Amino acid sequence: MHHTNSNSVSNTTRMTLLGATGSIGCSTVDVMLRHPDKFSAFALVGHRNSEKMLELAHLLQPQWVVMTDADAAQELTGQLPAGVQLESGMDAAITLASSPETDMVMAAMVGSAGLPATLAAVKAGKRVGLANKECLVTAGHIFMAAAQASGADVVPVDSEHAAIHQCLIGHDHASIAQVILTASGGPFRDRDPATLHSVTPAEAIAHPNWDMGAKISVDSATMMNKALELIEARWLFDIKPDKLSAIIHPESIVHGMIEYADGSVLAQLAMPDMRMPIAYAMQAQPRLASGIAWLDLAKTGQLSFQAIDLERFPAMRLVQDVLAGHDTLAIAFNAANEIANAAFRDHKIGFMDIVNTVEQVLERVENIPVATLDEVWSHDGHARALSVEILGAKHHD
Ligand SMILES: NC(=O)c1ccc[n+]([C@@H]2O[C@H](COP(=O)([O-])OP(=O)(O)OC[C@H]3O[C@@H](n4cnc5c(N)ncnc54)[C@H](OP(=O)(O)O)[C@@H]3O)[C@@H](O)[C@H]2O)c1
Repeated sequence: MHHTNSNSVSNTTRMTLLGATGSIGCSTVDVMLRHPDKFSAFALVGHRNSEKMLELAHLLQPQWVVMTDADAAQELTGQLPAGVQLESGMDAAITLASSPETDMVMAAMVGSAGLPATLAAVKAGKRVGLANKECLVTAGHIFMAAAQASGADVVPVDSEHAAIHQCLIGHDHASIAQVILTASGGPFRDRDPATLHSVTPAEAIAHPNWDMGAKISVDSATMMNKALELIEARWLFDIKPDKLSAIIHPESIVHGMIEYADGSVLAQLAMPDMRMPIAYAMQAQPRLASGIAWLDLAKTGQLSFQAIDLERFPAMRLVQDVLAGHDTLAIAFNAANEIANAAFRDHKIGFMDIVNTVEQVLERVENIPVATLDEVWSHDGHARALSVEILGAKHHD
């Protein structure tokens, strides 16, 4: 691929956005546009949404636009502003995410599909804003070892992990007694569990506090999202599973807490708006204006907390075995969830079938460590095939 410098702005952080057309991608664009003196777009990568990409290309004038889907790239041929070059396919995304001409990569594709391009950025030593938690769940130690080897700075974009990152500053890792992630409880926090089998994808996607992509919204409703986040936290912060926990906090104002050895608990608070953790990942110090509303605690009035009911949210029970087990369990946990979550959104299975499928897949896979990316993909493929088989049987019931 031939790189040109035609539209690069000197002295700016040159950004590559993986998943530019998604919810996190667009919130990143919003923060970038507030600081045109600090950030410029090197490459925008989307999958199918060519209409949104066209809009973003006009706003940011990147050097490159990539659609990983070839038909979507075709739709953009001849449509992009002058000077913006077009490519298609994941290989182009991988090349641009690791290019010497990009300084920071926002990893915001959804699912383990984001792993190759994100890992390429990590291996190339980029600053990586990590929203795409599935890649850390799938290949946690390979990913973190690559970051250590290259010196890449991996900064969390999940609000909970961004909170933990902030509460860690200036503290000794060995003093951590407990890392606590908060969970909103999603749209079904108070719904009668007996009625959960009949909820629709639209009901599951309508999150009370956060406006997010479809897959993560359903993950919030099943609480698979929090389960994935516990695995993510284990790798990001090198925390032993017995020091990791989660608690329901319906207001989504406190995003995460660390309890230290002396009993002191540090928490990070902000209005629930992803532009805050995105801005923090883009530049931690000095802090950037992010565009989110100021927190007015007098108006909020009350911050409440409750324990997570494992009967209502069995994903949080299953993740304990995953955290205690080897890599193949985490790979299967994520892969089965990706398949079942999509099947639910396609109206092929019921809501309760999602976590049920994940549980059945976990019962049938090996519990062993993996050493290479090839092994990761092999176990990922096996778990996906098992999930499809189990879902097929459900479909015929
Ligand atoms: N949204 C949030 O508030 C939030 C918070 C914390 C963490 N996250 C994490 O951030 C990631 C993105 O979430 P999101 O809510 O932004 O999702 P989203 O709105 O659904 O966006 C997903 C992005 O990934 C692209 N994509 C989808 N399938 C792909 C594939 N097979 N190959 C390459 N690209 C693909 C999409 O492209 P097209 O749309 O062009 O097809 C889109 O740009 C997820 O891992 C999620 O867990 C999100």
